Amino acid sequence: MSRVYNFSAGPAVLPEEVLREAAEEMLDYRGTGMSVMEMSHRSKAFEEIITTAEQDLRDLMGIPDNYKVLFLQGGASQQFAMIPMNLMKNRVADYIVTGQWAKKAAKEAEKYGKVNRIASSEDKTFSYIPDCSDLPVSEDADYVYICENNTIYGTKFKTLPNTKGKTLVADVSSCFLSEPVDVTKYGVIYGGVQKNIGPAGVVIVIIREDLITEDVLPGTPTMLTYKTHADADSLYNTPPAYGIYICGKVFKWIKAMGGLEAMKERNEKKAKVLYDFLDQSKLFKGTVVKEDRSLMNVPFVTGDADLDAKFVKEAKEAGLENLKGHRSVGGMRASIYNAMPYEGVVALVDFMKKFEEENL
Ligand SMILES: Cc1ncc(COP(=O)(O)O)c(C=O)c1O
Repeated sequence: MSRVYNFSAGPAVLPEEVLREAAEEMLDYRGTGMSVMEMSHRSKAFEEIITTAEQDLRDLMGIPDNYKVLFLQGGASQQFAMIPMNLMKNRVADYIVTGQWAKKAAKEAEKYGKVNRIASSEDKTFSYIPDCSDLPVSEDADYVYICENNTIYGTKFKTLPNTKGKTLVADVSSCFLSEPVDVTKYGVIYGGVQKNIGPAGVVIVIIREDLITEDVLPGTPTMLTYKTHADADSLYNTPPAYGIYICGKVFKWIKAMGGLEAMKERNEKKAKVLYDFLDQSKLFKGTVVKEDRSLMNVPFVTGDADLDAKFVKEAKEAGLENLKGHRSVGGMRASIYNAMPYEGVVALVDFMKKFEEENL
């Protein structure tokens, strides 16, 4: 068996320890004689899996008691609709557009009410985060929406926007559990787990209790109402059980690694190796302003599309996979999520050095 260094933006690398443990438990989960895939979501064994997963996530993020944790399906994209359907009481919301995902979310919300795009970085291909310290937040806005880490462009909010008292809603799909977070600053934190936490098919929504009401937009389906899932502790219907089980193992892995402070330190150390190399390289260059750089997604280019393609091909041959940039921007992108080992980033930088010598 040989594993590659997988720089995919998602679904993405998971901790090898977690995969091994899941493999060991595949046929017989702890004496139940069946796989977690095969067991009732109403069984004692699964009840313990989901409650332990929730508690571990609460411990890791310091989630206060007045927030609910929901394990849902539908991808992060389903939240683009679920958020306005549940939160747009005045039918007005403010969106900060820092990339394709925030743009899509804003467009979807327009189906339900008035969307004010109060800031954007589209003028410079989303290569920076706009100053959000004094934005024209709408008086009647139900919430202010951000995508906290922009997976495609490789930018991250280092300071949360000043929402002037309005509820902050954040898509954290690509920075989930990558560093400590003050949950009390948000009304809703949500993300697809397929980047930093687990297999595709699970979306985690952390939502303040006062935002969970029956007063949703007319026609909102039962399944798209937060209250349905909050009242049933994410067991209203069959949840993505196996995915939740793997998420739970990743939470335990992060705890064993020292929690979110340790993750941040580890992620900063990894990202520094790559950014330091990019800053002095004569061939490769990063595409994002320095102060807004993501610790998770690192886009870079040579400036020559053919050379980029050659790099991606030769890197793959060297066991460094999925370095092609998003189809909308080209170039390269290295996603270096929590589970990417330091050695993987060093191997990438060594390969980039060699490629630079051969192709400059
Ligand atoms: C920041 C962000 N939001 C949303 C999405 C969409 O996620 P999904 O495919 O789970 O709908 C992605 C996917 O890459 C993403 O990176």
